[in-house]
Amino acid sequence: MAASRLDGAVALVTGGSSGIGAATARRLARHGATVFLSGRDADRLAALAAELGGTAVPGDLTEAGAAEELTQRVLTTAGRIDVLVNNAGLGWAGPLDEITGPEISQLTTVNLLSPMLLTRAVLPGMLQRGRGHLGFVSSIAGRLGVRDEAVYAATKAGLDVFAGSLRQETAGTGVTVTVLVPGVVDTQFFTRRNRPYQRSRPGPVTADRAAAALVAAMLGGRDEVYVPRWLRLPVAVRGTLPGTYRRLAGRLG
Ligand SMILES: NC(=O)c1ccc[n+]([C@@H]2O[C@H](COP(=O)([O-])OP(=O)(O)OC[C@H]3O[C@@H](n4cnc5c(N)ncnc54)[C@H](OP(=O)(O)O)[C@@H]3O)[C@@H](O)[C@H]2O)c1
Repeated sequence: MAASRLDGAVALVTGGSSGIGAATARRLARHGATVFLSGRDADRLAALAAELGGTAVPGDLTEAGAAEELTQRVLTTAGRIDVLVNNAGLGWAGPLDEITGPEISQLTTVNLLSPMLLTRAVLPGMLQRGRGHLGFVSSIAGRLGVRDEAVYAATKAGLDVFAGSLRQETAGTGVTVTVLVPGVVDTQFFTRRNRPYQRSRPGPVTADRAAAALVAAMLGGRDEVYVPRWLRLPVAVRGTLPGTYRRLAGRLG
């Protein structure tokens, strides 16, 4: 695969029906990739697929066998997957005793289990061909931990560590692993979850800015990218001065 273009590459983007996923699919298509778009909203997927000359593969990732079925459908049609962007996800905010068991399962399945199953399904082909890009859309919540978002933050921390471990495993194979760490992105994420965004910082960035950062980092073979970039600062403080960070987080919320 060329370093700066994806001509002829086959890309599968989960959560391609809206927000960061749709913007990422647009960017990948602009770089020459043939895109496959996954999500539950068949109409939105079909509209974007028509716009990009791609293919909609609707399905609900919480259903048993969905991840394996999704990759099989793409592999049957395209023969291979060169780029996998694990982006589909959902949030939940509130005290832990208010989230239900099924909601915990849903968050864990879509945000963490599905990316692991999808990656497991596409990796052998990538290793065989000696090339491939794996993209993971994590969250600053997974790097820092956030009050009232324990379950969501844990799914993203798990995704982050999964990606980092896999990067070590695939080093030198031609398969790259890139993590996007967004703060707040202007998508339907917060209107879809049970509570709107209530903080003043970080302020929202556009979905296209997040997508541009992810695709550039993937093409550049970079391990991770923060959007906005200053978010690496609180992560660095937490890593180097954990006590100070805990006191600040406790005070600022
Ligand atoms: N927005 C933010 O501030 C922010 C910040 C940090 C990280 N993130 C992460 O960014 C990723 C994309 O979110 P977004 O902001 O672009 O929000 P979004 O517009 O709500 O997109 C979420 C996507 O996930 C898909 N999805 C959700 N549940 C699914 C399921 N059960 N099966 C299949 N697909 C499912 C949705 O597809 P359908 O609607 O078609 O089902 C949709 O395409 C998520 O992983 C999120 O955690 C977002």
